[in-house]
Amino acid sequence: ATVALIGAPTDIGASVRGCGMGPDALRVAGVAESVARIGLTVVDRGNLAGPATPWRTPEGGLRHLKEAVAWNRSVYDAVDGALGLGHLPLLMGGDHCLAVGSISAVAWHARRRGKKLRVLWLDAHTDVNTEATSPSGNLHGMPVACLLGHGPAALTGWAGTPAALDAEALRFVGIRSVDAPEREAIRTLGLTVFDMRHIDEHGMRTTMTEALHGVDEDTHLHVSFDIDCLDPDVAPGAGTGVRGGPGYREMQLCMEMIADTGRLGSLDVVELNPALDVRNRSAEIAVELIESLLGKSTLARA
Ligand code: ARG
Ligand code: MN
Ligand code: MN
Ligand code: MN
Repeated sequence: ATVALIGAPTDIGASVRGCGMGPDALRVAGVAESVARIGLTVVDRGNLAGPATPWRTPEGGLRHLKEAVAWNRSVYDAVDGALGLGHLPLLMGGDHCLAVGSISAVAWHARRRGKKLRVLWLDAHTDVNTEATSPSGNLHGMPVACLLGHGPAALTGWAGTPAALDAEALRFVGIRSVDAPEREAIRTLGLTVFDMRHIDEHGMRTTMTEALHGVDEDTHLHVSFDIDCLDPDVAPGAGTGVRGGPGYREMQLCMEMIADTGRLGSLDVVELNPALDVRNRSAEIAVELIESLLGKSTLARA
């Protein structure tokens, strides 16, 4: 298989500056070399271009909507292009609002090929706010709502249907920060959320068995990995860190169990903020987790 690295160097939807440096931090941490060492072919498509972040105040409950649409269009096209070539797109963010473009392209391809779609949202947050509920107006807190057809109109319907995703396609893992209106949305939309309490009580192994239940040979599996899913003691390089996340070993097991399905078809790695990191440690850990996700194993031969 061929992995296509796509950099989207922007913090357009974020609350804290710096995650626009994420793609290069991952490159410095050796993402291309590491993926190649597993025995996969790597093509680095370089960085997409887009508008600078103006740091305006929100308008109509939304910050930087126009610019975020432009970035997401570029992401959509790049991910669409990679999937069209049969490559596995690895979107290197950038903030999590870019998942709208990325996952819309994935959803379109999956539907066209008659594949079921499963999206694993690995995150401290559910990112299911809308312009009506967001406490911040930051679009990185809204991609799930957009993908389910409930966000701002300019960012919904990108997969050719009102909703790119059905609620049944989504599984959240690592959740520990949910705004009050998001809690309401989780209930009304019927979202499946494996929060930290669930992981503490049942362990990562059982949690991932549940999250991956039903994934079969007809499934396209997409992983949207927000670096802030990890405990901030492990990965300090994230703008909206929340205490009490999975540790290094739990996250490794999570990635290994996903790899074992053999169905991973696309990946986002978002919210990595080198300005907050310690000697690029979070980027290095992200690369190690990407290796496991792509099939690196301690004992199995490559
Ligand atoms: N729930 C908060 C908000 O809507 C935080 C969202 C953080 N999202 C993220 N992708 N880091 O502003
Ligand atoms: Mn998050
Ligand atoms: Mn539904
Ligand atoms: Mn997120």
